[in-house]
Amino acid sequence: MVNTCITLIILSSMILLAIPSVLSLDQDPVAVEQWFENLPNMTPKLTHLHFYLHDLVSGSDPTVFRVAQSNITSSSPTAFGFIAMADDMLTTGPEPNSTVLGRAQGIYGSACLEESGLLMTMNLVFTGADYNGSTLSLLGRNAVFHRYREMPIVGGSGVFRMARGVATAKTYEFNLTSGDAVVEYNVMVQHYN
Ligand SMILES: *[C@@H]1O[C@H](CO)[C@@H](O)[C@H](O)[C@H]1NC(C)=O
Ligand SMILES: *[C@@H]1O[C@H](CO)[C@@H](O)[C@H](O)[C@H]1NC(C)=O
Ligand SMILES: *[C@@H]1O[C@H](CO)[C@@H](O)[C@H](O)[C@H]1NC(C)=O
Ligand SMILES: *[C@@H]1O[C@H](CO)[C@@H](O)[C@H](O)[C@H]1NC(C)=O
Repeated sequence: MVNTCITLIILSSMILLAIPSVLSLDQDPVAVEQWFENLPNMTPKLTHLHFYLHDLVSGSDPTVFRVAQSNITSSSPTAFGFIAMADDMLTTGPEPNSTVLGRAQGIYGSACLEESGLLMTMNLVFTGADYNGSTLSLLGRNAVFHRYREMPIVGGSGVFRMARGVATAKTYEFNLTSGDAVVEYNVMVQHYN
């Protein structure tokens, strides 16, 4: 009887431990410090994220706005010097009505005189069931007319604390008239939670 009880307790605590830590992490400073102290015992894991980013400059609900430009932007073949702030939707599929996973929030601007090359500084803010409340920080060069653009993931928060990785972007749809784009993203990240 006692043995059964103990077995049950051990089993139930094993089940508790087996629940993946998708539940929100404690963000107070002491908890963060403890998390770092425990870091040497944690095994890195690899996560592959796949989603579509909707960069909408036109229509009734634009999600990106130009906030500044240089005095050569309008005459530059690469619109050099423009800076835009975006809050773009991330969805599971290319259709705008597919399931929302989060937003890409940040600044991008034309940083190349020779070809269309953007400097991207974006936070991927996840709000879907899987990574709700966690973020990834992307910082890189986006040569928008290249087939694939590789951009570093330089960090993260929540389940993505200390994340490192690579995002590849591929244009799914680009409307030259409106400027709206749907971009397919594959993100490989190494993280701990
Ligand atoms: C842009 O501004 C710079 C310095 O402010 C000036 O030298 C240059 O002539 C301007 N260019 C144009 C196209 O107005
Ligand atoms: C999403 O939009 C497409 C048309 O673009 C429509 O055929 C489809 O039924 C819509 N799906 C949902 C879940 O609303
Ligand atoms: C994400 O978290 C927020 C705040 O904690 C909550 O209101 C929301 O319902 C959650 N969304 C999902 C899809 O779990
Ligand atoms: C491209 O954008 C223009 C202007 O907003 C719109 O009239 C047109 O239908 C769009 N083309 C496609 C293929 O969505």
